[in-house]
Amino acid sequence: DLVNQIKRLEELFTIDTATLKKITHHFVDELTRGLSVEGGSIPMNPTWVMSEPTGHETGEYLALDFGGTNLRVCQVTLKERNFDIIQSKWRIREELKTGVAEELWDFLADCLHQFIETHHGPITNNTMDKIPLGFTFSYPATQNYIDEGTLQWWTKGFDIAGVEGHNVVPMFEAALRQRGVPVKLIALVNDTTGTLIASAYANLHMKIGCIFGTGCNAAYIEDCGSIPKLAHLNLPSNTPMVINCEWGAFNHRTLPRTPYDTSIDKASPRPGQQAFEKMVAGLYLGEIFRLIMVDLHSNPETHVFAGQDMSKLQNPYSLDSSFLAAIEEDPTDNLSNTLELFQTQLNISPNLPELQLIRRTAELIGTRAARLSACGVAAISIKKGYASCHVGADGSVFQKYPHFKARGAQALREILDWPAKQDPGEEDPIEILPAEDGSGVGAALIAALTLRRVQEGN
Ligand code: BG6
Ligand code: GLC
Repeated sequence: DLVNQIKRLEELFTIDTATLKKITHHFVDELTRGLSVEGGSIPMNPTWVMSEPTGHETGEYLALDFGGTNLRVCQVTLKERNFDIIQSKWRIREELKTGVAEELWDFLADCLHQFIETHHGPITNNTMDKIPLGFTFSYPATQNYIDEGTLQWWTKGFDIAGVEGHNVVPMFEAALRQRGVPVKLIALVNDTTGTLIASAYANLHMKIGCIFGTGCNAAYIEDCGSIPKLAHLNLPSNTPMVINCEWGAFNHRTLPRTPYDTSIDKASPRPGQQAFEKMVAGLYLGEIFRLIMVDLHSNPETHVFAGQDMSKLQNPYSLDSSFLAAIEEDPTDNLSNTLELFQTQLNISPNLPELQLIRRTAELIGTRAARLSACGVAAISIKKGYASCHVGADGSVFQKYPHFKARGAQALREILDWPAKQDPGEEDPIEILPAEDGSGVGAALIAALTLRRVQEGN
């Protein structure tokens, strides 16, 4: 019956403290291995961002922020630890994610073009000097220089042929040239790198930048002397280098994957890749839930939603993480908001025990995601020996998913054995705080830092 099913799901999805610690331990090893010549499951990509902002950066920059769900163009004016920003946002169409490469670059160039015309007037051959651009490309990229990046593999459900293994910058620049868009790409950055640098601009205690959104990832600052895979370059060992971990790729047998995680992986465009991300990131949370519901419906012992129209629920990826968020946020005792959600979105009317199962399932998925995410934060902190620091975070899951922050903080407390708080208002030694518009401001700052480095001849 349903009570037994709830128990089964609790066993599958609950991660106790000992397991969190074990995962974190292997996570630390994998971070270190990723920096070595042999490599490991986590790419640990050097980003060539080699200084933190001083806070005195100024000037006007464009940022193009290409994540997994939205595209944003921002005009950022840096003003000594402060900034002004104007921006436009477009949703990335589903067809584009699995379409043709040219269409993707054309779309990015068209949005920039449109933004510049709106804010600077029509573009003519000699209208303006080229505006410096920071391009936030939030996928794993190998970089030998800051203004280039070879896509390692698509993540977050993207599958566009002819891009993996290629430097994306010339492809994008060709589309810009065709339209005469007056920008000069100065830096290609990851959203986590942008988040870290933007957070550090406003708050010097920020040591890690995280994204908990459609995808999940982090960046932090390493010393070049601790990056054996760069040893051949003879960089001074105390020179800082921001590392984009790409920790979504973390894979280890200690990860308690369920049959639902295995199904998601098998049906994805890149089976075997991004094992950690597929358990924690926003793109997958609704799908894990949907697979559980479909499974319980087809199970002759439980047969939830018996006799109901299952056609909508059968659609892969039809539920996103905001659906789970709404279930977890239902304040009513009889879960009437959840009932309405199911009726309107799925054409299904669950009875009360089914609604209780739905609520518990959402809690289990959301809690597992937050607790596993904390393993990554703990692993970087342990690797770097940070007993206390701030972590800047952005992304839809961090910002909008109910209890994500508190659940993550609780897991960090368990992993790092912090003593109980004396007073509830007290700060934790490691606090995960919302980053102020990481990618827009971060990409602008990185463009500013890069131009300064070029001027100084480094
Ligand atoms: C946005 C950042 O706020 O968050 C992006 O500007 C980032 O750079 C994004 O990729 C991540 O969140 P989501 O939920 O859109 O993937
Ligand atoms: C995926 C991408 C990574 C990005 C993260 C968050 O993990 O591979 O580059 O930082 O999503 O958007």
